[in-house]
Amino acid sequence: MRHYSTIDRCIQSLDQAVRSLVPGATTAHRTNPAQDAESKLSIHEARHVAGLMRVNHSGEVCAQALYHGQALTAKLPNVRREMEHAAIEEQDHLAWCEERLKELESIPSLLNPLWYGVSFAMGAIAGAAGDKYSLGFVAETERQVSLHLEEHLEQLPKNDQRSRQILVQMNEDELQHRDTALEAGGVDLPKSVQVSMSVVSKLVTKISYYI
Ligand SMILES: [Fe+2]
Ligand SMILES: [Fe+2]
Repeated sequence: MRHYSTIDRCIQSLDQAVRSLVPGATTAHRTNPAQDAESKLSIHEARHVAGLMRVNHSGEVCAQALYHGQALTAKLPNVRREMEHAAIEEQDHLAWCEERLKELESIPSLLNPLWYGVSFAMGAIAGAAGDKYSLGFVAETERQVSLHLEEHLEQLPKNDQRSRQILVQMNEDELQHRDTALEAGGVDLPKSVQVSMSVVSKLVTKISYYI
């Protein structure tokens, strides 16, 4: 297996950040689940859905950053591989949310670089804390993301099947990521860490809806 130096890894991190933040730079590996779905929305509904999809898009930017941060500091090679694999699956989510935002004639959150930076740091700290905590952090993140996606699925207008199909597939993937992390040895995080993670995610959710 090829050995990467610290400088290689820093350049790789920068490249990953740019790819996650520049619209159109990430392409999905799987077919968009919305491809055959219909959506008929009023202007008011479309604006609300665009807000929701902007939040989901920011969530996926955060997911990319968390995985990239962890991959940088995780100690065991197999954990690093798990993180990189999950990050690739998150790229599909990012690309699908971006495509839906475009269809709704809207744009991603202007604060995504900030969310990326904060999440990258959190991921790097989790990675450095040791593999069982790192994997526990993934499991907790995915649990919180899944809860949030379920809330959004309830809020979507009934006739927006395009957004719905995307969120349903994302939720399925997030739960799979959580299970994989737990099976690989992830442990429960202290309550205080869980609460701080939920505070950051609420902040992203509230602000990205608008900007
Ligand atoms: Fe995701
Ligand atoms: Fe995930």
